[in-house]
Amino acid sequence: MLHSRKLQGFAALFFSVILLDSCQKDIADQTQEIESARARTKTSLTAVQQLGKQIFFDARLSEPVGVQACASCHAPQVGFSGFSDIPVGGAAAAQGFKRGFVAGIGEGAPAGAFGRRKPPSAAYATFSPNLSYVAADLQFAGGLFWDGRATGARMGMPAAEQAQGPFLADKEQNHPNPEAVLAKLRNNRAYIALWQAAYGTPDINISTAASIQDSYDKLGYAIAEYEGSAEVNQFSSKWDAYKAGRVTLTAQELEGQRLFLNEGGCRACHNSTGGNKNRPFQAGELFTDFTYHNIGLPFNVNNPGGNAAPDPGLGGFLATAANPQWRTMAAQEMGKFKTPTLRNVGKAQRFMHNGALRTLEEVVHFYNTRDVFGAGINGTPWGTPEYIPTMDRQHVGSLGLTAPQEAAIVAFLRTLDDGYTGVTQ
Ligand code: HEC
Ligand code: HEC
Repeated sequence: MLHSRKLQGFAALFFSVILLDSCQKDIADQTQEIESARARTKTSLTAVQQLGKQIFFDARLSEPVGVQACASCHAPQVGFSGFSDIPVGGAAAAQGFKRGFVAGIGEGAPAGAFGRRKPPSAAYATFSPNLSYVAADLQFAGGLFWDGRATGARMGMPAAEQAQGPFLADKEQNHPNPEAVLAKLRNNRAYIALWQAAYGTPDINISTAASIQDSYDKLGYAIAEYEGSAEVNQFSSKWDAYKAGRVTLTAQELEGQRLFLNEGGCRACHNSTGGNKNRPFQAGELFTDFTYHNIGLPFNVNNPGGNAAPDPGLGGFLATAANPQWRTMAAQEMGKFKTPTLRNVGKAQRFMHNGALRTLEEVVHFYNTRDVFGAGINGTPWGTPEYIPTMDRQHVGSLGLTAPQEAAIVAFLRTLDDGYTGVTQ
């Protein structure tokens, strides 16, 4: 909220300057651009959100130009996350894509460039608070990325810091520096118009190091504002309709919710009720407490980014953190990853930080039987956990759920997908 007010301040400050400096015709042209941009999207986004949306879906903001947008790896139809498998390089074109996916890992703008993590959902991400160590719970919470490294410390908002990263990452949108990204916006009339509407000035200023930083921060905030909009965070699932008293859940879905809260133990981490693990779910539940755990996943054997060593997760980030106290805590946090929201998880095509699990049925079966000798999928036992020392043995691994109980939990998870259009009562 704080940053919105700050931005409105900017807008008010610059509005008067523009009236003096710009000629009338430019303003008329730009207003028209803004109106047509609004008409295209048919939503009531604010001007800042509109700017962020335009950037989020713009594949021109990659190097090479035209192959990758944020939405390439955070596509609305799969819950603002990534895909499972799409042919890589030129072959992707046959399926209408410019870049591919291998086993849940997205190819970067440079053909054949792969990281080793699966894109988490960009929806509901704006609810994550700044990364902090919660001494009362002896655990870290908040931040963005699987390892929390977008802490929010600099900009007061993890999502705004996160949004600045992909444009510069060589396995993502691959620009050499922020100036190169901003220069593309400066050379585009639609962006100049959107920038003016959002920030009260048509000048996407890159004249000094300080102004580049300021403009790049505005870009980060705009994307975060869009990610925080009701278009992305819809709260429009069947479960939301149920909490609002507009529909009933089936007997299986209700049983799944009960198991999720009780025998399944899922609520211990996928619960945003402020530490009170026994309170029933409230409307607006996010299904994550933003804490970090090692649930003992095996490697994704098809990971195109390789499996040379275990992914260190939160501990890997803490080992390099500026905060000296955090650095001393790195060892105990190795191999831990942020608990993701479960909203829209039924739309996802791959699961977990490394994309190791392929279906929701596999996910629930994994939680239920990780530690059961010989258990696995289709006769193949679960692989050895990626990193054993910090593995959670208290909540997950051997839950004793029956097959119908696993199926009920899956049915419940599928009620969390946005865009429910069923009959209301
Ligand atoms: C090539 C695929 C790719 C592209 C392009 C991409 N992302 Fe991501 N995104 C990822 C991956 C992979 C992660 C997890 C990385 C990690 O944890 O180290 C991620 C993480 C995130 C997260 C953190 C979510 C969470 O819960 O921690 C957000 C938000 C996000 N991306 C938004 C964006 C935005 C905004 C853009 C465009 C500026 C973008 N992404 C471009 C793959 C991509
Ligand atoms: C100890 C905390 C904890 C418990 C208990 C827990 N989870 Fe998770 N969950 C996590 C973490 C952490 C991840 C991400 C792990 C990773 O990628 O390494 C995760 C990931 C998931 C995912 C994948 C989401 C995605 O976007 O990839 C699903 C689905 C899920 N959990 C469902 C459940 C269900 C159902 C239960 C109960 C049977 C459960 N979880 C119990 C912490 C927990």
